Amino acid sequence: MTEPDTATSTLQDRLGRPFRDLRISVTDRCNFRCTYCMPEEVFGERYRFLPKSDLLTFEEIARVARILIGLGARKIRLTGGEPLVRHEIERLVAQLAALDGLDDLAMTTNGFLLGQRAEALRDAGLKRVTVSLDSLDDATFWRMNGGKASVAQVLEGIAAAQRAGLTPIKVNAVVQRGVNDHALVDLARFCRERGYIARFIEYMDVGNLNGWRREDVVPAAEIVARIDAALPLEPIPSNYPGEVASRFRFRDGSGEIGVIASVTQPFCGSCTRLRLSPEGQLYTCLFGTRGTDLRGPLRAGAPDDALAALVSGVWRARTDRYSEMRASVRTPREKVEMYHIGG
Ligand code: GTP
Ligand code: 5AD
Ligand code: SF4
Ligand code: SF4
Repeated sequence: MTEPDTATSTLQDRLGRPFRDLRISVTDRCNFRCTYCMPEEVFGERYRFLPKSDLLTFEEIARVARILIGLGARKIRLTGGEPLVRHEIERLVAQLAALDGLDDLAMTTNGFLLGQRAEALRDAGLKRVTVSLDSLDDATFWRMNGGKASVAQVLEGIAAAQRAGLTPIKVNAVVQRGVNDHALVDLARFCRERGYIARFIEYMDVGNLNGWRREDVVPAAEIVARIDAALPLEPIPSNYPGEVASRFRFRDGSGEIGVIASVTQPFCGSCTRLRLSPEGQLYTCLFGTRGTDLRGPLRAGAPDDALAALVSGVWRARTDRYSEMRASVRTPREKVEMYHIGG
């Protein structure tokens, strides 16, 4: 592990937050059509995704990652869209795994292709996966993912990841009232039995397409109370400063769950995340409107120090805290979509 140098440790944004996490979206495509992310009505057959020439190449991504590690990144998460639909993503994993200075290299996936890819990903150097699974009830899951996959297919993928050692495995469920909140306890129990960490995410108003309504959100406190009533829980401390999930363990010692309360208990104060879009735009917030273009300078031959200066400037100027401001935002603003920059 390399120690952060002085320049790194002083890189802070306008609210005093350091830069630590890089989330790289490798594609805007996905083989699912989750209603809260890529509704089929919008992302039908005629929807035009980014052409290949617009995407950063693996070499370009790895170069940006190396420069950002120099600025403080210690953790990289690959996301999408669905990262496993990007051709030969294992090659990128291997390039990132070879970089000095990273403590963690993870991927968020819908799990559909994991069964056939888990071992190759592990061999390339991926440390762990987080798999999205909104319900164990097939009819509910099917409805939420736009009729693209059954629960069994995703569970096979998760099991393959576990066999390959891509652990600890986290299972993310976006909770929507009246849609999948009837079966939270089942999901918590199922994950506990298999050694997965179930995480329940408050449904968020990401992007402009999902028709988000405040009343569809099930507050994390209610999620915890409902699980606690069946499977007694107690809070446990965070693994690291700025962790988005609040952790609870089962009182009988059989594992833990997490809840991500970005609507009812926003965590912008400790947000150390920077997001890179598939075409090389840098976003300082999940709810950003516009990114900063890195692909232009990259392809124009900018040297490493110029790129580092560009990113440092972006981080130093950062003031984002959308989730904390949500209640006071009167006029809806244009926001980047989740499928474009990942969760
Ligand atoms: P670990 O590295 O395992 O701790 O995971 P993580 O904290 O990176 O969590 P993950 O990437 O699984 O994020 C879970 C969910 O939290 C995402 O799908 C988003 O819905 C939400 N989330 C993650 N980062 C942010 C963020 O910066 N802001 C907000 N508002 N939500 C976030
Ligand atoms: N609210 C909360 N989480 C979301 N995700 C996608 N859209 C939303 C939303 N509107 C989550 C997915 C997945 C990750 C990529 O982001 O469930 O876990
Ligand atoms: Fe695909 Fe994930 Fe969006 Fe669902 S939430 S459509 S799996 S990118
Ligand atoms: Fe960070 Fe923006 Fe999420 Fe707040 S809303 S935690 S600033 S990404």
